[in-house]
Amino acid sequence: MLAPAALIARTRDGLPLDSGELRDFVLAYTRGDVPDYQMSAWLMAVYLRGLTPDEASALVDVMLHSGTVVDLSDVAGRKVDKHSTGGVGDKISLLLAPLVASCGVGVPMISGRGLGHTGGTLDKLESIPGFMTGLGLDRYRSQLADLGVVMIGQTAEIAPADRKLYALRDVTATVESIPLIAASIMSKKMAAGLDALVLDVKVGRGAFMKTPERARELAQTMVQIGTRHGVETTALLTRMDEPLGRTAGNWPEVAETIRCLRGETGEAEDVVEITVALAAEMLRMGGVADSVEQGAEQARAALADGRAWDKFVRLVEVQGGDVRTLEDPDVRQAESPSIVVEAERSGVVTDIDARKI
Ligand code: URA
Repeated sequence: MLAPAALIARTRDGLPLDSGELRDFVLAYTRGDVPDYQMSAWLMAVYLRGLTPDEASALVDVMLHSGTVVDLSDVAGRKVDKHSTGGVGDKISLLLAPLVASCGVGVPMISGRGLGHTGGTLDKLESIPGFMTGLGLDRYRSQLADLGVVMIGQTAEIAPADRKLYALRDVTATVESIPLIAASIMSKKMAAGLDALVLDVKVGRGAFMKTPERARELAQTMVQIGTRHGVETTALLTRMDEPLGRTAGNWPEVAETIRCLRGETGEAEDVVEITVALAAEMLRMGGVADSVEQGAEQARAALADGRAWDKFVRLVEVQGGDVRTLEDPDVRQAESPSIVVEAERSGVVTDIDARKI
C-alpha cells in the first residue's frame, strides 16, 4: 500500500485511487494500522472532491466484506428491511418493523445510533427500560425465524469498517457526502442478509441532503449499488424540513410510536402516511402484496386492527424491554425534567425548523 499521506494527497487533488489501494487503505484503518487523523483527512478530501463511480463501488465492496456477510437463506420467506438517511423526529422504523412483520414479511433490522444532528433508532429503542439491542448474530437469526422481526445494533462482525468510519465521520463534519452515506448504508444493509431493501431518503433543511436533486442522486446511487449486489432496492424521497410527527427525542418518540400503533394518531398523520408508504413497498417486495396499493391496504388494516401493536409489544418483551412502561407512556415522560416554553403572544405555528429543534 502507498503511504497514507500519498493516498490522501491523491484524493485531495481529485486523482482516483485504484480499487486495490482503496481496499488496502480502508482495511488498514479498520485493523488500527492507519490512525484516525489520517482517515479524517481522507474523509474530508472525499467530502470535498467526491469519489469516481469505480472508487465508490470499491468502497462499498471493502466495507461490505470487512466483516461477516450473513446468510439468512435458511429462514423461510423473503427478508426485507428499510433504512432512512436520517432526520429529526424520524421514528418510522419503530412502527414499520413490527407492522411489516405482522403482515407476514420478515424484518431483520440493523439500526444505527444518532449521526450528526439526526437521532438513531437504537438510542430510541434503548430508552425503553431493559430493551437490549446488542444481540449477537445467532439470536438475530433465531428471533427473526420465531417472531418475524428483530431490531439490533450493528454487531462487531457486521461491516466493522463502516462502524469505525461512521463514528469518525460523526465528529469530523464529513457526514453529508453522497458516496460516504451510500457506502455506509448499503454495506451494512447488504451484510445483514436481506433480499430486498426500501430506502427513505430524507430531503430538506433537517436532512443531510438539502435539495431534491442531491437526494435523488443519493437515492439513485444506493439503488444501483443494491441492484448490482442482487438486493432488490427501491427508494422514496420524503420531506424533512420540519420534525416528523409531534415529537423529537428518544422516549418522546417511543411514546408517539405507541400512540400511533394504538390508533391514537392525533396530529402525527405524516408519521402514519410515511410508514404506510414504506410498508406498502416492503410488502410488495416481500411477496405478500401484488402491488403497492394492495400493500398499503394491508398495512392500514394491520394498524387498525391492532396486529402491528401486538407485534410491537411482543418485540419489546422478547428483547427484554419492560412492557409495563408501554401502558401509559406519559408516566415515564412526566418523570423526566421538563421546561415549558411559552410564546409571548398567541398565534398559529406555521413552520418549525427541524435542524434547530
Ligand atoms: N445512515 C447511515 O447508516 N450512514 C450514513 O452515513 C448516514 C445515515
